[in-house]
Amino acid sequence: MNKKTPPATPRQLDKSDFRRLSTFIHNTFGIYLPDRKYYLLQNRLQPRLKKLGFTSFSDYVDYVLQQDKKGEEVFEMIDVVSTNKTEFFREKEHFDIFQNELLPCFYGQYIKTWSAGCSSGEEAYSLSMVLDEEKQTGRIAGFMVYGNDISQSILNKAVKAIYPFDQAKSIPPNYRHKYLLRSKDKENPTIRIVPKLRAKTRFVWENLVGEHDSMPNDFQFIFCRNTLIYFDQETQLRVVDRLTKHLASGGFLILGHSESLVNRIPKGLKLYSPTIYKKEI
Ligand SMILES: C[S@@+](CC[C@H](N)C(=O)[O-])C[C@H]1O[C@@H](n2cnc3c(N)ncnc32)[C@H](O)[C@@H]1O
Repeated sequence: MNKKTPPATPRQLDKSDFRRLSTFIHNTFGIYLPDRKYYLLQNRLQPRLKKLGFTSFSDYVDYVLQQDKKGEEVFEMIDVVSTNKTEFFREKEHFDIFQNELLPCFYGQYIKTWSAGCSSGEEAYSLSMVLDEEKQTGRIAGFMVYGNDISQSILNKAVKAIYPFDQAKSIPPNYRHKYLLRSKDKENPTIRIVPKLRAKTRFVWENLVGEHDSMPNDFQFIFCRNTLIYFDQETQLRVVDRLTKHLASGGFLILGHSESLVNRIPKGLKLYSPTIYKKEI
């Protein structure tokens, strides 16, 4: 029996529209989409076209680049294009080094920490848990954790701070008891971060490729993990350079385990360990 070839969907991205859109995304948000990401972009955007009633990608790309004067669709588009994978205490060794080696350099101080590219907030709340513990022992005077992202829907999740119950697994047991509320819903159990930590964690829409105007300039710690990986090398260095300006003297920049800048350490930073940099005093 002859198998019929499925009809081509009218909503297919052609190569020139892919290039127009990927160039725009790269210039605006730093995210580098090489040709091999063609299907990813097409598949992630197809539901947007359907929702808005566009039958051709060309029209959609024209709309995003030229007609969407308020820029609203740009935000919707980047929402679906960004990759938001994260978890509590991801790359746990960083949290151990943070608590046991780096934080003691600032004992007695009020600690400001930035989760740059925070996704749904798990990294920021993990930091808040460690910092709250340190505050309770009196080793630090207090703390605030900031988080930023370019995806508004993911930031809304971060602010709500409600997560599937399963995600509690990566949180150390002593923190689970202190910092999580459990839902009573047996079919769809969730956890929520306690109000005390939510009040110490602030989320803002901010583009790392921009000027970071709303962020303080005296962070002792900036965690920018698993975000630079989406940028090309030149953008990575530009972003690291800007982040460095927001570090207090002697402050630390912590990158993801696959994001070392070993052979190209930006001005003003010293290598502390393969993924940790210290701002020169
Ligand atoms: C894979 S998540 C990493 C989350 C967390 N830092 C971690 O390590 O688990 C990367 C996040 O960076 C955000 N992102 C990508 N480009 C960005 C930009 N130009 N400015 C701010 N956030 C960005 C994405 O929306 C995504 O939520």
